Amino acid sequence: MQKIKKLISHKKIEDRIKLLAKDIIKENTELNFVVVLKGAKIFARHLAAEIKRISDIKVNVYEITLSSYSDKVSSSGVIDMVEGIKDDLFGKDVMIIDDILDTGLTLTFLRKYLLEEKKVKSVKICVLLDKKKKRAHDISADYECFKIDDVFVVGYGMDFNHNYRGLDYIGFIPLQTRQG
Ligand code: IMP
Ligand code: MG
Repeated sequence: MQKIKKLISHKKIEDRIKLLAKDIIKENTELNFVVVLKGAKIFARHLAAEIKRISDIKVNVYEITLSSYSDKVSSSGVIDMVEGIKDDLFGKDVMIIDDILDTGLTLTFLRKYLLEEKKVKSVKICVLLDKKKKRAHDISADYECFKIDDVFVVGYGMDFNHNYRGLDYIGFIPLQTRQG
């Protein structure tokens, strides 16, 4: 087992989602979430529940399964659309909900797919975490919960080798460094 260090507590995530939900309802009248599985599922569920709690805005949830990580902690550089979206999104304003915006490859791919293939009207981006340091594509989040350094995080839906998704906080795996 790898040792996990706590980065962001459950309470901090909950508090931040409350503020985020307030911002989102101020600026949007209808919501069509495109949730990137599997990592963003818990975040999207909590965000949608909070929006429901404080507003009458209808939140439609669509899911897409993408993968750029195999068994590693670094991106393979190729996006695999494991499961696309069958629903009709023609002419809709959609909001991508993802766990992490890192190099931007995944969301650049997804934005293009939504605009060009699903023919949506507009795409906004909402992420739990923004790792700005490694950005390699011209893409940014309209909404984000936290900015973090370039560490490998797990928990609150995010995994390492299919493990740790169920943690209720966000942790990171400290890199093993060899002394001497
Ligand atoms: P990007 O395509 O480089 O922006 O990578 C974004 C995707 O890689 C995210 O949606 C995550 O699924 C995954 N990812 C990036 N960093 C991490 C991490 O620290 N932990 C777990 N998954 C990560
Ligand atoms: Mg992802």
